[in-house]
Amino acid sequence: MSDYRFFDRLRPDAAAERRAIIAGLLADSPAIAPKHFYDSVGCALFEAICELPEYYPTRSERTIFDEHRAEIADAIGAGRQFVDLGAGDCRKAETWLPHLEPSRYIAVDIAGDTLARALARMAPEFPALELTGIVADFTRGLDLRADLGVWPTAFFYPGSSIGNFVPDDARHFLSDIHLHCIAAEGSGLLIGVDTKKDRQRLAAAYDDALGVTAAFNRNVLRHVNSIVGTDFDPAAFAHVAFYNEQQSRIEMHLAARSAQRVRIDGTSRDFATGDLIHTEHSYKYAPAEFTTLLHEAGFASVRLWQDHARDFAVYWAA
Ligand code: TRP
Repeated sequence: MSDYRFFDRLRPDAAAERRAIIAGLLADSPAIAPKHFYDSVGCALFEAICELPEYYPTRSERTIFDEHRAEIADAIGAGRQFVDLGAGDCRKAETWLPHLEPSRYIAVDIAGDTLARALARMAPEFPALELTGIVADFTRGLDLRADLGVWPTAFFYPGSSIGNFVPDDARHFLSDIHLHCIAAEGSGLLIGVDTKKDRQRLAAAYDDALGVTAAFNRNVLRHVNSIVGTDFDPAAFAHVAFYNEQQSRIEMHLAARSAQRVRIDGTSRDFATGDLIHTEHSYKYAPAEFTTLLHEAGFASVRLWQDHARDFAVYWAA
């Protein structure tokens, strides 16, 4: 009987998480961290975003993987343990398993239900592979030492999720991964990162015609209501997304459509029409810039693959 192991590392932090969300909502410039997008509705909407014509990153990354699969697999090497950071439905990692023949697959994500469903689906398909799910918030630091041991590890961080950190935090996070890598020779990081391009195309990728991204953004208010008991009305906020060229980042915000008062943990906050709640940054990196970031994080060797249009970049850093 095929099976998988499953660890929930999120629960112990629940009280601290509540406090962090409330502090964010009451700050001078209110903000909600992007990890809170991913309740079950948010996960489903994000899967839909990845299918949208405007959202090119998923397709461009898939093209790079498909066109260079053998060469990338060769760079990584067979028999590593494969650690999927932000695994979601595990579909991206699944395409690599036959090529990497990992010793085990460790999927890490903040969305426990989606992760458990994915592993249950995979278990009968990969009966010989040891499958582990870890529910964790690795934006608070990546300490997987107990789970990873000292086996050579291929980390997998696709989808330009690294762009959702500000660059200093991204460097920090990459350094944490590098620390894991130096513990076992033959380890490295396969990472997908969006590139800079025409601002209209960038903005459209985060503000699609159907309004799926708008729904995804506004859904974070429902999720926050359920975690900390606020009474946000998602219909009372509008989706705002634009490319900030100076900072090389997409910014996503929620804008109050009218003056309103929101109950927050025994107090309240007034929003005037147009007041913003920041929900996400998505930084874009030219390949030379991201290569520098990987070097600064400690990686000595960096290989790069791109699609023909250079819309996206995939790096193997070791
Ligand atoms: N890592 C993805 C990105 O920055 C996440 C993402 C894509 C996203 N589209 C989004 C997050 C829309 C929030 C809203 O591209």
